[in-house]
Amino acid sequence: MRKDLLHVWSTKLSYEIREIVDVAKKIQEINKKEIIWENIWDPVEKWEKIPNWLKNTVIDACKKDEVYWYSPTRWLEKTLEFLAKKNDKVKKDDILFFNWLWDAISKVYKSLSSTSRVIWPNPAYSTHSSAEAAHAWSEHITYKLDPNNNWNPDLVELENKVKYNPNIVWILVVNPDNPTGAVFKKEVLEKIIDIAREYNLFVIFDEIYEKLTYNKEDRVLLSDIIWDVPWFSMKGISKELPWPWARCGWIEVYNKDKDKNFSDYIDSILASKMLEVCSTTLPQYVIPQIYDSKEFQESLKNRIEKYKQRADKAEEIFKDCKYVSVVKPKGAFYLSVVFNLDNIKQDFDFDINITEIKDIVLKKIWDNSRFDRKFCYYLLAIKSICIVPLSSFNSTYDWFRVTLLEDDFEKYKNTLNDIKNFIEEIWK
Ligand SMILES: Cc1ncc(COP(=O)(O)O)c(C=O)c1O
Repeated sequence: MRKDLLHVWSTKLSYEIREIVDVAKKIQEINKKEIIWENIWDPVEKWEKIPNWLKNTVIDACKKDEVYWYSPTRWLEKTLEFLAKKNDKVKKDDILFFNWLWDAISKVYKSLSSTSRVIWPNPAYSTHSSAEAAHAWSEHITYKLDPNNNWNPDLVELENKVKYNPNIVWILVVNPDNPTGAVFKKEVLEKIIDIAREYNLFVIFDEIYEKLTYNKEDRVLLSDIIWDVPWFSMKGISKELPWPWARCGWIEVYNKDKDKNFSDYIDSILASKMLEVCSTTLPQYVIPQIYDSKEFQESLKNRIEKYKQRADKAEEIFKDCKYVSVVKPKGAFYLSVVFNLDNIKQDFDFDINITEIKDIVLKKIWDNSRFDRKFCYYLLAIKSICIVPLSSFNSTYDWFRVTLLEDDFEKYKNTLNDIKNFIEEIWK
């Protein structure tokens, strides 16, 4: 080749949640043991039954010719009106629809000037962090979520980083959070907004798990609390409906007119969206009907009950294990288990007796591999349980994530107990 084809950032792009699947499948092929998928490979394929009311809504829509048209770039008018009616703080012209939230995330970061940086939580959902770092061609800038303080953000660190790095123009908050399951209290969110206000920043809130907040009183939308700082919220249906391939997400922009620069930036996102004409029509077409249906409300209630029950059980199972700590999730459907590094020796080894599997695993855990990664790949090779090492969430902690999705409660308890026993076997 005349020139190197690779982008400087290409080696940094990784999505362990899916990468580990290829390894797991190879291991399964060799040892013929069924894998317990706790990384979320596809929750619908694995756990969720598609309810008839949802199928019928989609089937009815498919009978109409207009779902086969291109939709307008912003969104279908009737859906915009519907969402603006549900939340009188957002104007319908300030909602912009994307093919899925990943599409929004990618355009939002790509449209930002390369020297403008976003500070985001550590740990961070890796789609955000990879997209931001790729846009800036630079290392991540993060503020810590503290497992010893209910996953609350370290506000002192946040403020200091913002204060001494004039390139930071946005603060990102994911609420409820992936991977910690944290739901932030109003006072905490207000303090983040205070920092944004003080240093003249914008804020982005990823609220894709908003409807999956376990206790109603914990649910604080950003639109409930801020009115003077320009910001936008990211929303989508892939978590609240068993229909993730619908790939449907949107942003709601607030206070666009308060800042010309912010307003131009939002217009540039719309311009880049116009280049691809529009997003897929079908999911946006059915959103009003789905959101208004009592079956949808009922299904949310049932799912929340299920996640709550699993979160309680996880806390109970790991409570006495001195090698890890768990903060009970309050939203979304993940559980993060953090290693207590004071109580464990990080250089451990296992003999994997099938050479072929050993080779596969050793390829994934090189000498200076992070310790949580090593743990997860050994767990996969020896116990056939597939979980995600959370250092892959651009995190400085060593830990792992499982989900709260398993339908079979006995199987769920057994999986967590197996993981706990494996940990105790290593370090006892
Ligand atoms: C916090 C967060 N934001 C965005 C997304 C992406 O959503 P979508 O499936 O609409 O691309 C996810 C998916 O896991 C997520 O956890």
